[in-house]
Amino acid sequence: MEKLRELRPGELTFAQAEIISGGINNYIAEVGLEMLPKTAEQIIQQYCTGQSVVLIRGDEVVFHSTGYEVLDEKQLSKVRIQVVELGSWIAILRGQGIGKMGAVRLLEQNREIFGQNAIFLATHKRMNALNISEHDLKFHKVLYKDFPYLTFLTCTCENCSENFTSEHGIMSCPFRATFTEVYPDVTGKIDCTLVISDIELAQEFERRCREESQRLGLPILEQGETITTERMKTARDLFDRMGS
Ligand SMILES: CC(C)(COP(=O)(O)OP(=O)(O)OC[C@H]1O[C@@H](n2cnc3c(N)ncnc32)[C@H](O)[C@@H]1OP(=O)(O)O)[C@@H](O)C(=O)NCCC(=O)NCCS
Repeated sequence: MEKLRELRPGELTFAQAEIISGGINNYIAEVGLEMLPKTAEQIIQQYCTGQSVVLIRGDEVVFHSTGYEVLDEKQLSKVRIQVVELGSWIAILRGQGIGKMGAVRLLEQNREIFGQNAIFLATHKRMNALNISEHDLKFHKVLYKDFPYLTFLTCTCENCSENFTSEHGIMSCPFRATFTEVYPDVTGKIDCTLVISDIELAQEFERRCREESQRLGLPILEQGETITTERMKTARDLFDRMGS
């Protein structure tokens, strides 16, 4: 069997980006909106940041994933801890260890870019992806409600997040895991589970967000509180104010 190879900067072609985009779309068509769709243009644009990993075997693309940094320069200058979501994982060939290899490389690469003062996280809806994060990336499962500011930054699903519920009339996301024990159904589906690289750094991030809220005279989001549309709006105010 041919060896896997990682694409070098500038090597990704539009045709390969289309295959990645198509792979994500096929997955969504199969299981529903568990991942956000990405166009080939978006895949290329993100790849140009140097934060993506694309693996090929022969000429075939077999894996893609990327690191999305969440805070802009101004927000980062206030909290001084970047948040990087490892997302858009797609293995075109499944169950052969390719996802594991790609995710490990992705974390290494993004650690080189963002350094030690960054929180790396992912949100998983499938047991196989969660296995990679726990076993191979050594990430920790945590509850969304214990990290309300990180929740605001990562809950970007338009159909269910409290960030968008005023438009859709949903009061709270029904898909989030409420216990750290995870029980997959027969298809491997799990409640949406947040995993993070460093719990202490994430707690420090939340502390700095509370401190910044206080400084700006905004209400404070506490660890363990119920996530509501109203509270997400408060978090939005904070990040808008920090970014302006
Ligand atoms: C998630 C994904 C990238 C994993 O890639 P993969 O190459 O199939 O996975 P691997 O072969 O490296 O296996 C990863 C782990 O999942 C386990 N696994 C594989 N298939 C599994 C299944 N059907 N159910 C439960 N666990 C499974 C493996 O045993 C391994 O666990 P281990 O670390 O304990 O040995 C791939 O399945 C995929 O593209 N899924 C669709 C998109 C998706 O879910 N992306 C994640 C968005 S966050």
